[in-house]
Amino acid sequence: MDRYKAIALLDSGVGGLTVVQELVKLLPQENIVYFGDTARMPYGPRPQEQVRRFVDEIMGFLLTQEIKAMIVACNSAAAAGLDFYRHKIHLPLLGVIEPGVRAALEHTRNKKVGVIGTTGTIHSGAYQQAFHRLAPDVEVLAQPCPLFVLLVENNLVDTPEAWRVAEEYLSPLKEAGVDALILGCTHYPLMADVIQGVMGPGVELISSAEETAREAQEILQQHNLLNNHATIPARQRFFASGRAKPFAEMATRMLHKEIQAYQVILEE
Ligand code: DGL
Repeated sequence: MDRYKAIALLDSGVGGLTVVQELVKLLPQENIVYFGDTARMPYGPRPQEQVRRFVDEIMGFLLTQEIKAMIVACNSAAAAGLDFYRHKIHLPLLGVIEPGVRAALEHTRNKKVGVIGTTGTIHSGAYQQAFHRLAPDVEVLAQPCPLFVLLVENNLVDTPEAWRVAEEYLSPLKEAGVDALILGCTHYPLMADVIQGVMGPGVELISSAEETAREAQEILQQHNLLNNHATIPARQRFFASGRAKPFAEMATRMLHKEIQAYQVILEE
């Protein structure tokens, strides 16, 4: 039965695990298969055409894993071409951009929204275009924060450097008076304390991870693919293109349980 198949997620590294965290909270009975392209991380500075090629290759692997839906749990990969992947994957497919935009629109009062993400995501204009489509009257202030991903992947979130870098990236948004800030990179929820600390309590942080999990639930429901068989323990499988051990350690910390990961060597 298709509904017992897994939900597949992919990211350049551990960032997409923030979406897994939210999925597990919301849909604990769902089987999950996750791929972190740690050998080729970060995606943010890469040309879109290359990111699309990487994603295409990962999707090819994930499609061999008995899956029922695919989540591009990486803003940089989604910004590089969700429509392009949609032509290739004949399963429900969702990215992380529109869910975040919709949530920001629900929260903003003064119609000034900040978006932070990787250089690739911000320069692609994907968020700016989504706002333009859904709410052209909203002012969008977009800011690339390329070092955040490296701080997260190297477990340096709680350091003075992280605060210093965050102050530097975020001060223009703070001065502009945004009242909602989209964490437009799935790594950023792991820096939420620092980001909130810099922005102050009056700014609502919008996690694309949380919104994406909610949208996944809706889409599975629409396709009659929700696994409502709560008695069978859910299976989670984790793959990384880089070394399995550091990935498994990070995943164990983030998901609060012992995670095994397996390395899959990709071509390039
Ligand atoms: N987690 C990613 C994103 O949402 C990727 C970051 C990167 O690899 O640069 O954009």
